[in-house]
Amino acid sequence: MRLDRFIGHQEGLGRKAVREALAQGRVTVRGELVRDGLFEVTEFCRVTLDDIVLQDRPALYFMLHKPAGYLSATSDPNYRTVMELIEKQGDEQLHIGGRLDLDTTGLLLLTNDGNWSRRITEPNLKTPKVYRVETEDPITPEYQELFARGVHLLPENLTTQPAQLELLSERSARLTIYEGRYRQVKRMFYRFKNKVLALHRESMGEIKLDPALAVGEYRPLTAEEIALV
Ligand code: URA
Repeated sequence: MRLDRFIGHQEGLGRKAVREALAQGRVTVRGELVRDGLFEVTEFCRVTLDDIVLQDRPALYFMLHKPAGYLSATSDPNYRTVMELIEKQGDEQLHIGGRLDLDTTGLLLLTNDGNWSRRITEPNLKTPKVYRVETEDPITPEYQELFARGVHLLPENLTTQPAQLELLSERSARLTIYEGRYRQVKRMFYRFKNKVLALHRESMGEIKLDPALAVGEYRPLTAEEIALV
């Protein structure tokens, strides 16, 4: 939002009063004096007027090594949720950037920054998501061909983006997909009536699950990781 509108809304000031406050150098954003009313402030910029803090919310970003048996949801009457694994962050509400099924393990990203998480999950942006898959039956080169062409999913009536499958052993593979449709990986394998027995997300875009994180552990993302999205 524009800085002049932000101050007007927050303080109930008219346009003239806002212009004056800016011109007189009474406004700071992220600790810097700003006189330009067109300056864009995000929900996480610290903004002051006459040394009074108008906004000061932290932007939070975490990676969790999700265990099986935890639901990717903020609350649920029947299951434990991944939020129970993360310490409460004051008044900040975290949400999940790309859910995993109850039995899926691996990289889960949590944040209170909706713009950031949308950049990972928005299908049109084609962020690669890498999964290690173990299956009930052998995986054949036919799978590679079909996944590379795209799998038609009912009932959405859409074809998945070309995906890459790397065979690791007779019954395990690494799959890179570019969207995150509901149960997409399991449904892709089920096209061959092959059941996924274990599914683990290794990375989303450039962010990789930290091998130092034991199952159920989490840590804040580094500034470099946040900037990768
Ligand atoms: N695809 C699935 O089928 N399940 C997941 O948890 C993630 C991707």
